[in-house]
Amino acid sequence: MKILITGGNGQLGQELQHLFDERQVAYQAADVKELDITNADQVESYFAAHRPEVVYHCAAYTAVDKAEGEGQKADELVNAVGTKIIAQACAKYDALLIYVSTDYVFDGTRTSGEYLPDDPKGPRNEYGRTKLLGEQAVQKYCTKYYIVRTAWVYGQWGHNFVYTMLNLAKTHDQLTVVADQVGRPTWTRTLAEFLTYLVEHQIAYGVYQCSNDGQCSWYEFAQEILKDQPVKVLPVSSDEYPTAAFRPHYSVMHLAKETGFEFPKWQDALHKFMSQIEAK
Ligand SMILES: NC(=O)c1ccc[n+]([C@@H]2O[C@H](COP(=O)([O-])OP(=O)(O)OC[C@H]3O[C@@H](n4cnc5c(N)ncnc54)[C@H](OP(=O)(O)O)[C@@H]3O)[C@@H](O)[C@H]2O)c1
Repeated sequence: MKILITGGNGQLGQELQHLFDERQVAYQAADVKELDITNADQVESYFAAHRPEVVYHCAAYTAVDKAEGEGQKADELVNAVGTKIIAQACAKYDALLIYVSTDYVFDGTRTSGEYLPDDPKGPRNEYGRTKLLGEQAVQKYCTKYYIVRTAWVYGQWGHNFVYTMLNLAKTHDQLTVVADQVGRPTWTRTLAEFLTYLVEHQIAYGVYQCSNDGQCSWYEFAQEILKDQPVKVLPVSSDEYPTAAFRPHYSVMHLAKETGFEFPKWQDALHKFMSQIEAK
């Protein structure tokens, strides 16, 4: 199988590369320099030349708050238009498309229970809106696809909450973290393993959701990250950290356990990740 990773320099793109290297699986990874997904001519030439059979589409505009202002055009161009271009190319060249989406496609107004894949959508920020447009393009143009929604992603390669907390702990005795937003953290390793599991086990095409198991608030997540550090973590309300983009108070998605994939608990995933970066 000829594998292509779009957005190959991102958190997930690099994790997938690492996983394929470990498994000695051949792949091509391209980021915006080699394959700008918003450039239809470039995408067509790339697909015509390389004929990928499986496309892990990780390229995205992920600056959630910027997308509410100066980044709005880029957000729409990459997440909606770019994904449409990739979906059309996959349809034309009969490639399987794996599109990574977000919990922000839901309205996030629940207080309990899990969001099921087919629950009504109602994005309340720009990023969620354009990622949903991306989902719709995938479903419109492709028959061979997996849409995999995820949330609170962190990994070795890139900027994320775990690194932010660890860095802040170096210069602060005390940190305040929002305690009234609850979700499921996702280690890129778990996500990469799940995406490849779907493909390798020929799971039925469709929409799935992947995070680590369990749930927590950002405050609880920070406490676990910093439990061995000499820093006090205090809970605060979201009102003390206003953001440009709407953030849901409760955003727990149903995990695709029916696939047979075992989702590690978020604490176990975090500990493995921490020992990995400590060993670096
Ligand atoms: N991070 C999260 O918490 C989170 C949560 C839910 C869902 N997701 C989804 O998970 C997927 C992977 O996220 P991630 O955290 O790995 O994102 P990321 O680290 O921001 O990686 C995205 C990559 O796409 C590249 N890219 C941007 N515009 C492009 C273009 N026009 N053509 C080709 N590549 C382009 C980016 O390059 P530049 O850096 O140079 O722009 C970056 O290397 C995305 O679909 C994202 O929407 C992420």
